[in-house]
Amino acid sequence: MKKIILFGGSGQVGSEILKRFSSIRSIEIDVSDEEKLKKVFEEYQPDIVVNCAAHTGVDKQEDEQELAFSVNSEAPKKMAELCSQCNSKFVQFSTDYVFDGEKGTPYLETDLTNPLGVYGKSKLKAEESVLEILGEKALIIRTSSVHGVYGHNFVHTMIKLFQSKEVLKVVDDQIMSPTWAGWLAEVTLKLIDKGAAGLFHVSSGTPVSWYDFSKEIFNLSANHLETVVTKEILPVTSEEYPSKAKRPKFSVLSANKLIEVTHEKPISWQEGLKKHVDEYFEGGI
Ligand SMILES: NC(=O)c1ccc[n+]([C@@H]2O[C@H](COP(=O)([O-])OP(=O)(O)OC[C@H]3O[C@@H](n4cnc5c(N)ncnc54)[C@H](OP(=O)(O)O)[C@@H]3O)[C@@H](O)[C@H]2O)c1
Repeated sequence: MKKIILFGGSGQVGSEILKRFSSIRSIEIDVSDEEKLKKVFEEYQPDIVVNCAAHTGVDKQEDEQELAFSVNSEAPKKMAELCSQCNSKFVQFSTDYVFDGEKGTPYLETDLTNPLGVYGKSKLKAEESVLEILGEKALIIRTSSVHGVYGHNFVHTMIKLFQSKEVLKVVDDQIMSPTWAGWLAEVTLKLIDKGAAGLFHVSSGTPVSWYDFSKEIFNLSANHLETVVTKEILPVTSEEYPSKAKRPKFSVLSANKLIEVTHEKPISWQEGLKKHVDEYFEGGI
């Protein structure tokens, strides 16, 4: 039996992986503490290391660059060095925000990167150093717009707002491909099992705007709610709804390589969202 350790087990993706594979050991340390990281590797001598720990606050990081690079770039680099010394395989998650969004069609693993903000820059730096240190011993999974029952995400924010705000404004000029964390966890485990290496895009692969996504969240959740306050969801442009970090206009990740390797079609964003919303209301989380 392979020894697998996981960092970031309390997050959306980490929780779903741990739920599906209980023999993975969840390690709860500050990953930016190099001494603690070293001790973990010495103690467990893992065969596989899965890193779900990250600073994911895209806007916050514009003001917290040092923290962002420390957690998102330096920590995975150190993990890769330790994996190299222990001969362990390393699984690192990355993001669609490594792209600038100008391509206009789904991004392939081979497309040029050009991140617009601190988050994308910090995650890209990790990709580069991990691949440089580990080569074929690294699996990097780029995913996008992750949502699941555990933790904070757009779906939970919307469900709260449906119960408190009459009019909601949601951007309709940012197109992405949402990813249900439960499916992402399953695919991650499949890729590990197949011994996949290098860069992989793992998302629903189908485009939707945040505005259309929010309307579907409403359709799926409204009849579960005791009180629905929202009367209107309005589409707005990114200029009308400014945020601290600049985001790509189109960051859909192509699922072609994933389909080739796993021979499975990704779950559609609609199906993934339904599974999430059903679980949310069934579980009363
Ligand atoms: N969420 C998305 O939409 C999205 C999109 C693309 C890519 N990704 C990538 O997918 C991966 C998983 O994301 P997620 O959605 O599961 O993120 P998440 O829900 O924000 O969870 C992040 C995890 O990292 C932990 N963490 C943060 N700083 C840490 C530190 N210094 N030391 C140890 N743990 C730390 C958090 O623990 P605490 O809660 O205790 O701080 C939490 O367990 C990340 O690599 C992320 O960049 C996410």
